[in-house]
Amino acid sequence: MGGFAGSHHHAIARLEERGHARLVCTCDPREAAFGVEQQTWRLPARGVRVFRDYRAMLDTCHRELDLVVVPTPIQLHAEMHAAATALGLPTYLEKPPTLDYAELEQMIRHDARAAKSSLVGFNFIIEKPRLALKERLLAGEFGAVRGATLSALWPRPTSYFARNNWAGRLLIDDRAVLDSCMGNAMAHFVHNLLFWVGTKELFSWAQPAAVRAELYRAHAIEGADTFFVEADTTAGVTMRFALTHACSGPSTHLEMVLCDKAVIRYAVGHATEVRWSDGRVEKSVPAPFDGLVENHLDYQRYLCGASPRPATTLADSRPFVVLNDLAHISSRTIAPVPPALVRSVRDEKEQKEYLDVAGMVAAHENFLVKGLWPGARGWERAAGEVATPTELTRFHDTVRAMAAARPRL
Ligand SMILES: NC(=O)c1ccc[n+]([C@@H]2O[C@H](COP(=O)([O-])OP(=O)(O)OC[C@H]3O[C@@H](n4cnc5c(N)ncnc54)[C@H](O)[C@@H]3O)[C@@H](O)[C@H]2O)c1
Repeated sequence: MGGFAGSHHHAIARLEERGHARLVCTCDPREAAFGVEQQTWRLPARGVRVFRDYRAMLDTCHRELDLVVVPTPIQLHAEMHAAATALGLPTYLEKPPTLDYAELEQMIRHDARAAKSSLVGFNFIIEKPRLALKERLLAGEFGAVRGATLSALWPRPTSYFARNNWAGRLLIDDRAVLDSCMGNAMAHFVHNLLFWVGTKELFSWAQPAAVRAELYRAHAIEGADTFFVEADTTAGVTMRFALTHACSGPSTHLEMVLCDKAVIRYAVGHATEVRWSDGRVEKSVPAPFDGLVENHLDYQRYLCGASPRPATTLADSRPFVVLNDLAHISSRTIAPVPPALVRSVRDEKEQKEYLDVAGMVAAHENFLVKGLWPGARGWERAAGEVATPTELTRFHDTVRAMAAARPRL
């Protein structure tokens, strides 16, 4: 009921008012802590049964359900998805499905037990302007895709990493969690960039063939808060990703697709631009988009047989999960950002502390535009090694070694 699950409750209540859904039951081990929310969502008046344990909820209610929504901590997704699909029920599974490539394969197998495929809730694949541009890309209007870059600077206060027991964690009980800017908050944008470069059909994602990465931390966390990742795809396109939570000020994010005849600049929630090599610029401002309501409706169309597939299936999530795992394997270690570059910035209005890395924007630009790695330019770490999908077998040992080498927190 808390965190992003609260947003699902709001979205489903709105859908219920419009006659598109009915919430049968919900659960949270801390349900008593959400008394106010339960009244706000009018759960008693709507006849919603509340449980503390999801297994008891499924046992009791499964015959009344068409789908199960799983907006819980990442490390619980696999077991909850397994329990729902064992009863033949598909899930609306929050992104990321898991950050462990081997667990994802097991989830893909489990998903086949349900009558319909699960949806992985990456918010932005169904945006109409995105789909329209991808159609034009596939039709060859912009020429061949030569490269793609993602820059995302999303400040997160130090309190963000203390909001629950899994934030910033690599491992819990020897299971890979890998919570990070790449695996969690910015996963949408990473998956979006892979979507642009997936050229087999509209709903296709680029496959990473070789990955190099440098991972850093400025915060006192087990995992990384800053990623520089380069991937060559099986189609020979070079993709670069620069992502961080170690910054302050406004959030920015930009997906760029570099084609022979034009560059597409797509920033979720902002104007989209197509800059043609001949100087023309096409600009379009997106219409308001309620991501959760729209994704629920889109998934419902699929469940009812009105559309052929969910926006992102578990199998479609493979490139994202593999890229994230190979980035960890390539980086081998999570290096501290040199302390001299890190300063604490207090936001008096929010009453929160941020860690801001001097030169972060320049490091993003140098990497994305020129391919220059920060490790060789003052951030004092060895380069990442090339990691290919055959090296995924090293993933679990790599994560254990990274966790063992974490700083004293
Ligand atoms: N799509 C988006 O825009 C978006 C935004 C934020 C988070 N998320 C995703 O949502 C998921 C949850 O993230 P969060 O930050 O809200 O997590 P969280 O730690 O706040 O947990 C969400 C809720 O799950 C509950 N929960 C914990 N254990 C449970 C259990 N055994 N059974 C039932 N409920 C349980 C918690 O008590 C909490 O109320 C993650 O996958 C995250 O990546 C998606």
